[in-house]
Amino acid sequence: MPMQAIIQHRYGTPDDLRLMEVEIPVPKPNEVLVKIHAAAVNDWELGLLEGKPLFMRLFLGLFRPKVKIMGCEIAGVIESVGGDIARFKPGDKVYGDLSASSFGAFAEYVCAREDAVMHMPSNLSFEQAAAIPHAAMLAQQALQDIAGMQQGQSLLINGAGGGVGTLAVQMAKLHKLGVTGVDSTAKQEYMTLLGFDRVIDYLQEDFTRTGKQYDLILDTKTSRSPFDYARALKPGGTYVTVGGSMPRVLQCLVFAKWISMTQKKTLRVLALKPNKGLNHFTGLIEAGKILPAIDSRFPLAEVPQALKHFASARHKGKVIISVASATDYDA
Ligand SMILES: NC(=O)c1ccc[n+]([C@@H]2O[C@H](COP(=O)([O-])OP(=O)(O)OC[C@H]3O[C@@H](n4cnc5c(N)ncnc54)[C@H](OP(=O)(O)O)[C@@H]3O)[C@@H](O)[C@H]2O)c1
Repeated sequence: MPMQAIIQHRYGTPDDLRLMEVEIPVPKPNEVLVKIHAAAVNDWELGLLEGKPLFMRLFLGLFRPKVKIMGCEIAGVIESVGGDIARFKPGDKVYGDLSASSFGAFAEYVCAREDAVMHMPSNLSFEQAAAIPHAAMLAQQALQDIAGMQQGQSLLINGAGGGVGTLAVQMAKLHKLGVTGVDSTAKQEYMTLLGFDRVIDYLQEDFTRTGKQYDLILDTKTSRSPFDYARALKPGGTYVTVGGSMPRVLQCLVFAKWISMTQKKTLRVLALKPNKGLNHFTGLIEAGKILPAIDSRFPLAEVPQALKHFASARHKGKVIISVASATDYDA
């Protein structure tokens, strides 16, 4: 049986992607076949599309991408299960991050390892659910597992208006932290509405040079030297980066020990463990404590436009691909 999928034949730009018919995959014994209803766009896709940073081609394919169907966040319904699967049955609503399970979200169906999906929060639409697994686990693993956030602490989120920041601020407010958000001019009002106590426009003010210090910093867009970030931390404070400029992230790794010894401040780089902690997050959502922020929706055929919109960084919250309606659109 054929399905529609966005196929990547070579490294390039969103215009190199094609909507094509391919065979629906068949699940291995340890896999489930999911009919995808919604997917979400992440930084991963831009990296897979361009094959950058270049060293990643050692893993992604030297000259041509090994991953033909990109996309890592999905929400959908189990269509069938492999012989070893006991946790799921056809008809179950699931969501998850496929970045450790060979991607494949920009399609009507995907085979995923059993541990790559979880039961979906009962109170969310597929589009809302697709906005969560990858971004929320980056926020949760950074703020809870690494930084160990505590009530009353001050937190600054750099790159606060995107997928991770909009979930991270809700988690931090649940724990009663004071939260400052840093992003561009166009996102200041939106961030205030989301619940940030204070907002900073990075085009007007460099938060590392104001003299103000924070207990915790969560960075989704590392772009400065580790010594700048250390300056903005209180003694004993912790800076966690989840991504940004690769040379700057590497500098954090290199200088973390020195900064810890000389200034008693902690710099950490998060290596995401996909879906670890997602069950806990599902509970917070079902309790009505956290809601995903959706920027826009695109049909499957318009994944290239969605990627261009994401790359332009105008999005506030998550960019969603509405997959179930793919057949309503022409290629
Ligand atoms: N650690 C891991 O294992 C792992 C795995 C996967 C992904 N990641 C990383 O996790 C991050 C995901 O973040 P996300 O989904 O929230 O990204 P996002 O949705 O693109 O949001 C990033 C925000 O940062 C803003 N921004 C851009 N340049 C900035 C600057 N210099 N200073 C402050 N803000 C800036 C952007 O808006 P404007 O451009 O309008 O300012 C945008 O609102 C990415 O860096 C990704 O590479 C990490």
